[in-house]
Formats: sequence, C-alpha cells, structure tokens
Amino acid sequence: MDNQLTIALSKGRIYKDTLPLLEAADILPLEDPSKSRKLIIPTNQENVRLLIVRATDAPTYVSHGAADIGVAGKDVLMEAPLDNLYELLDLQIAKCRLMVAGPETPKPHGHRLKIATKYINSAKAYYAQKGEQVDLIKLYGSMEIAPLIDLADKIVDLVDTGNTLRANGLVPEEHIANISSRLIVNEHAYKTKFNQINEIVEKFQTAISNT
Ligand code: ATP
Ligand code: PRP
Repeated sequence: MDNQLTIALSKGRIYKDTLPLLEAADILPLEDPSKSRKLIIPTNQENVRLLIVRATDAPTYVSHGAADIGVAGKDVLMEAPLDNLYELLDLQIAKCRLMVAGPETPKPHGHRLKIATKYINSAKAYYAQKGEQVDLIKLYGSMEIAPLIDLADKIVDLVDTGNTLRANGLVPEEHIANISSRLIVNEHAYKTKFNQINEIVEKFQTAISNT
C-alpha cells in the first residue's frame, strides 16, 4: 500500500503522552503496547500503523525511512543527530531538563572531575563550552548510583520532579538544556506523503495549542 503511514513511538511515557495527540488526529491504536507483546500495532485507519521501538531508536527508524514519522526526546536528538529527518513540532510532552547533579556534600577529589552519563556527546559539548576538562563514563541507566559508590563525582542526567535525585542524596547543580519530545519526519516521506503527514501535523498543532 503506497499510502501506508508508519509512526515510530516508544512505549512508556512517550506513548502515553502521544496518545491524546493521535486521538486528535483520529488515529486510534487497536492494541495497547503496555499489554500486548506486538511491536507493530494496527490502528483504526487501515493505512496507519505504529512501530513500538526503544526511545533511543525512534530517530534511526525515521532517518532510514523505515518509519515515516516518529516521536523522540530532544535529549536523544541532541545526543545522536541524524540526517534525513526534520524536527517538525515541539509536542510539549515528556518535559524535563538535562542537568549536572552531584552529592549534597561533594567529596574532595584530587583528580579530573569524573562524570557518569548516558549522554556522552551532550556532556562532552557542555564541558567543552565551559572550557573544563572532565573524564566521562558511559552508563545506560541508573546514573544516580555512580556518585554514591565513587564511580563518578557527578552525573549528567534528566531531571523532572527531582525525586530520583533526592531519594539518592543528590542535588541538581547546573542546567544544560530543556527537553521535550519532538515530532520527527523523514525528509523523503515529507515530500511523497505531504498531504497525509501535514494533516497529522496540523491536528497535532491544534491539540497542542488547546492544552
Ligand atoms: P531507552 O529505552 O531507549 O533506554 P528511556 O528508558 O530513556 O530510553 P523513557 O524513560 O521512556 O525511555 O524516556 C523517553 C523520553 O522521555 C526521554 O528520551 C526523555 O526525552 C523523556 N524523559 C525521560 N525521563 C523523563 C522524566 N523523568 N520526566 C519527563 N520526561 C522524561
Ligand atoms: C528518568 C531519569 C531520571 C528520572 C528523573 O528515569 O533518568 O532517573 O527519570 O525524573 P524525576 O526527576 O521526576 O525523578 P526514568 O524514570 O525514565 O527511568 P529509567 O531511565 O531508569 O528507565
């Protein structure tokens, strides 16, 4: 089907927050990805389907044209910018901040600052712009543990309510960037499926401005 439209989404908070926007565009998933093991979810519109992917993978699907459009956090887009896609809309969902955080009472250290993070490129760019040399340690999650057991002095991670930091005796220190999720669109699909994509963009836009 040439007018097949494929949308890449991650389950969890992005799916939950995108659902009202999809509804506003009259796209209703026929299964709930939090209950189903299915990774390709049909919708009420025969020619629209959802791909349920890892949050960090959504831009890859869109960049390669395996999905026509998708939703991705700005943190993911900043960390690994990809070609062949447009960032068309700020969806104003999954809002948080990328921050440096550390222990309430920092321990003295006689070495270069060690920073644990999933966001190596963003952290590298941030400290380079500050003119500060640091050692970066790549982690894939649970960054908050690193300063507690002396793997690192500080972390660069996402902060929303600050509950995770507080629960682990850490405090936010420096703000790097405001984060929200973006509607990303494959450049080629935006030309070949313009009407179909533009209709969704307009309906998303209206829904966002009404919230
Ligand atoms: P992956 O599964 O690929 O490792 P992830 O576990 O980070 O990704 P989610 O936790 O679902 O996936 O986060 C998806 C996006 O939601 C992030 O890229 C970020 O933009 C945003 N986000 C992450 N944590 C929060 C938070 N605490 N509050 C609000 N938004 C957040
Ligand atoms: C994110 C982030 C922080 C937490 C911040 O983790 O990595 O740990 O949210 O949110 P808060 O300030 O409201 O506590 P998430 O909940 O996505 O868990 P995961 O990345 O470890 O899956």
